[in-house]
Amino acid sequence: MDTNKFTLKIPSRSCNESFARVTVAAFATVLDPTLEEISDIKTSVSEAVTNCNVHAYPNSIGDIYISCEILKGNVLKIKIRDKGCGIEDVDKARQPLFTTGGEERAGLGFAVMESMMDTVRVTSKCGKGTTVTMKKKISCKDDAR
Ligand SMILES: Nc1ncnc2c1ncn2[C@@H]1O[C@H](COP(=O)(O)OP(=O)(O)O)[C@@H](O)[C@H]1O
Ligand SMILES: [Mg+2]
Repeated sequence: MDTNKFTLKIPSRSCNESFARVTVAAFATVLDPTLEEISDIKTSVSEAVTNCNVHAYPNSIGDIYISCEILKGNVLKIKIRDKGCGIEDVDKARQPLFTTGGEERAGLGFAVMESMMDTVRVTSKCGKGTTVTMKKKISCKDDAR
């Protein structure tokens, strides 16, 4: 059976952050997620997209590519990619409280994504961009709720 998927390309304007989050959440509804799962998905997408707006393209507007796919076993896969500045040291960037954003940023975006999704993969190349791939298994209806 063909899997269901979509790809979206949006400019890194802060007004598009809520659009991205709601779009992914709407796509995920075919998996019949709980409200908590929807909320986790929205928050994680928000964090990743905000990172593109703030860090990847700090002084300009660039493209953000969001693709989602439903994998076997009721798993939602979300990929958020930018062609921005990239991350010098990904392991360091993923550490809680690490930020290059100064006072305004908490440095918890990756920690939040990790706590809400099953897996978070980050690949990045300086000057080329960053890809964040997240997966979350959505509980089945037959599971106890
Ligand atoms: N898409 C991205 N492009 C470039 N740098 C990024 C990107 N996402 C994250 N980073 C880097 O990783 C750091 C940690 O990100 P995060 O945990 O979300 O905390 P915060 O956004 O509060 O700084 C950021 O400060 C930034 O240096
Ligand atoms: Mg962040």
